[in-house]
Amino acid sequence: MRVFVTGASGFIGSAIVQELIAAGHQVLGLARSEASAQTLAQAGAEALRGSLEDADSLKQGASATDGVIHTAFIHDFSNYTAAAATDKAAIEAIGAVLAGTQRPFVITGGILGLQPRHELTDEDDAAPDFPRASESAGIALASQGVKAAVIRLPPSVHDQNDHGFVPALINIAREKGVSAYIGDGSNRWPAVHRLDAAQLFRLALEQGAAGSRFNAIGDEGIPTREIAEVIGQQLNLPIVSIPTEKAAEHFGWIGRFFALNGPASAVKTKARLGWQPAHIGLLEDMQQNYFRS
Ligand SMILES: NC(=O)c1ccc[n+]([C@@H]2O[C@H](COP(=O)([O-])OP(=O)(O)OC[C@H]3O[C@@H](n4cnc5c(N)ncnc54)[C@H](OP(=O)(O)O)[C@@H]3O)[C@@H](O)[C@H]2O)c1
Repeated sequence: MRVFVTGASGFIGSAIVQELIAAGHQVLGLARSEASAQTLAQAGAEALRGSLEDADSLKQGASATDGVIHTAFIHDFSNYTAAAATDKAAIEAIGAVLAGTQRPFVITGGILGLQPRHELTDEDDAAPDFPRASESAGIALASQGVKAAVIRLPPSVHDQNDHGFVPALINIAREKGVSAYIGDGSNRWPAVHRLDAAQLFRLALEQGAAGSRFNAIGDEGIPTREIAEVIGQQLNLPIVSIPTEKAAEHFGWIGRFFALNGPASAVKTKARLGWQPAHIGLLEDMQQNYFRS
């Protein structure tokens, strides 16, 4: 299959490109700079110059390929509402090209923010728009003749060179001189290894039924206290509890995410796609790879 990938130069997108090419697919990656285009060429992919804000470039990529994987996102947490609106518009622009074609369109969503109805959030629990509406915008396309499926990523997609939430927590601990968790730290974060997530994107592209939600879950739920403990042990810092009302002051923007509880399961995803995460878990990855100087 020839696949259009947005965010192809990113942390997760680059692993998806590798995974697709290794499985015999061809990749056309969206590149908003010459540097990103070169990264794609080195990975064996073709580049399409454009951006999330340029709907014509997205439509061009979708028209020229047999399926689309959308991972690009503007990670500006100071203007998250605008970033979410750009994401939704991008999904709709691609969806308009794919409508009626039954071509696969795999969209990146998130798992955190769901209130689990059971002990673990499963694939049948719909995600709220918070305000990122990737999941609902993607699922809406299933009724328009698009084989649209959503991969719901946990808050930590981990591997070497991670620049997501966990490195941000490590930086905060370094700055503050303590490694903190919120309250009793029993709220749980799920996680997945980047390479396992990349494999799931490929399987969803190849086999995902229209309207499917797939949970990319390796670790079902790590108490946030244990994440703080690894950080404190590795940096040789005191490990402390911060009261909920002080979380924003201590952690800044990440406080509201670190306070969330989102344990989740991938039982249905594994059964439906034959996906078996095989890489190390978050705490082990942190111990091995996150504190090298
Ligand atoms: N990493 C995690 O732990 C994690 C957890 C949950 C969800 N997610 C989600 O997973 C997806 C991929 O995350 P990631 O960690 O791989 O992100 P990343 O490393 O920051 O990469 C973002 C990608 O999006 C591209 N991009 C950003 N703004 C763009 C724009 N305006 N137009 C076109 N392309 C643009 C970037 O292109 P350049 O290379 O040109 O900058 C890059 O390829 C995102 O939707 C993210 O929210 C990630």
